[in-house]
Amino acid sequence: MADRKATLTVEGLDKPIELPIYSGTRGPDVIDVRGLGSEGLFTYDPGFMATSSCQSAITYIDGGKGMLLHRGYPIDQLAQNSDFVELCYLLMFGELPSKAEYTDFADRVTSHTMVHEQLANFFKGFRRDAHPMSIMCGVVGGLAAFYHDHLDITKQEDREISAIRLIAKMPTLAAMSHKYNVGQPFNYPRNDLNYAENFLYMMFSNPCEEYKINPVFAKAMDRIFMLHADHEQNASTSTVRLAGSTGANPFACISAGIAALWGPAHGGANEAVLNMLDEIGDESEENIQRFIDRAKDKDDPFKLMGFGHRVYRNFDPRAKVMKETCDEVLEQLGRADDPQLRIAKRLEQIALEDEYFIERKLYPNVDFYSGIILKAMGIPKNMFTVIFAVSRTIGWISHWHEMLSESYKIGRPRQLYVGHDKRDYPTD
Ligand code: CMC
Repeated sequence: MADRKATLTVEGLDKPIELPIYSGTRGPDVIDVRGLGSEGLFTYDPGFMATSSCQSAITYIDGGKGMLLHRGYPIDQLAQNSDFVELCYLLMFGELPSKAEYTDFADRVTSHTMVHEQLANFFKGFRRDAHPMSIMCGVVGGLAAFYHDHLDITKQEDREISAIRLIAKMPTLAAMSHKYNVGQPFNYPRNDLNYAENFLYMMFSNPCEEYKINPVFAKAMDRIFMLHADHEQNASTSTVRLAGSTGANPFACISAGIAALWGPAHGGANEAVLNMLDEIGDESEENIQRFIDRAKDKDDPFKLMGFGHRVYRNFDPRAKVMKETCDEVLEQLGRADDPQLRIAKRLEQIALEDEYFIERKLYPNVDFYSGIILKAMGIPKNMFTVIFAVSRTIGWISHWHEMLSESYKIGRPRQLYVGHDKRDYPTD
């Protein structure tokens, strides 16, 4: 409902244009500019700096306060009291499950963890040294070739089945992409384990020796899944919505999301942070300062990876929980004095006191510490963004489901055309 109106006066138009303003539960009001098209005008907002692409009730971020709410619940409270499977239910269905609903949902997810046996053949088409994210783009899209039932996207029941299949199969495919990389046999999922335990088992177990799941690692893994689960209209979620708005197959939409996530400005940042820490190497003060100076230098493309965010102009609340988890895992491993953790903490400290970072409100984001935890758990760098994709699948599919549950239009932005004007093809 429009509470107020904005009036736009445009030179050359005889009367002002009235545009409705809507208020959400929280956050800035929005001006509905859809009527501008009929006046022969478009808005111009490259990078979506001030554009709401949709209405959503799933996640809210207050970047100034460093607040992240899923269905109203703060992320730190969820990380403390809930688990990834419960968070999936909450994001998808809007409310926390009862005990019975939780059990039923967890069972439904568990019963879909296996992938079609023939899918294993897809992997053989990739080089062994293929980046697991490239494999994931292919094999997740490839699910569309295997699951032909329950694909009526206009039916809630069918959308739920696709969602459950994706949540359940992503860890299996992720672990397979790692096993293929290292030349070990694939592990079938174990349905007696919980979501995080099963993922660790499929990643690390091999036929020659028993793999004992470390409960601290399983807890940390579950937390990492939770902290990456959803983040409103980020680049990959917007990609999934855009792909979904054409009526595309859900598995193909998620594959599009994986591709968008891969970039270092988005989910690829966790791998990039570790590469940066490797490159810094020496923890001497002058060396660390040299990298800070490079990040500030306009002529150097280097950025402090794991720092900054389009929405957060304050601490990323996920980064706080991630830093605590990092301390817990390294403490448990007797590596509280890990040199890369020391470099990361020193980088953070210097940046937080530096005018350049203060002025631009650049703080550590979720990816700054996640790589250090994952590395400590024995997970190779090239799997970090894959793990982000496993977690974010619930966010992507919840937004896809939300969009399709309401009336929506195909996503089709317009442009400011600056190319040649009409000209004739030279005929002589
Ligand atoms: N190091 C150095 N300078 C930075 C950084 C950084 N990490 N991030 C932003 N800036 C500067 C940027 O150069 C610009 O300076 P100026 O105003 O002088 O031109 C200013 O801060 C504003 O930055 P921006 O690039 O215009 O901001 P954006 O909202 O378009 O980009 C970002 C946000 C996350 C892409 C960017 O901060 C970045 O590239 N960070 C490093 C990559 C990273 O950690 N990404 C993970 C994001 S969190 C995980 C996820 O959900 O995707």
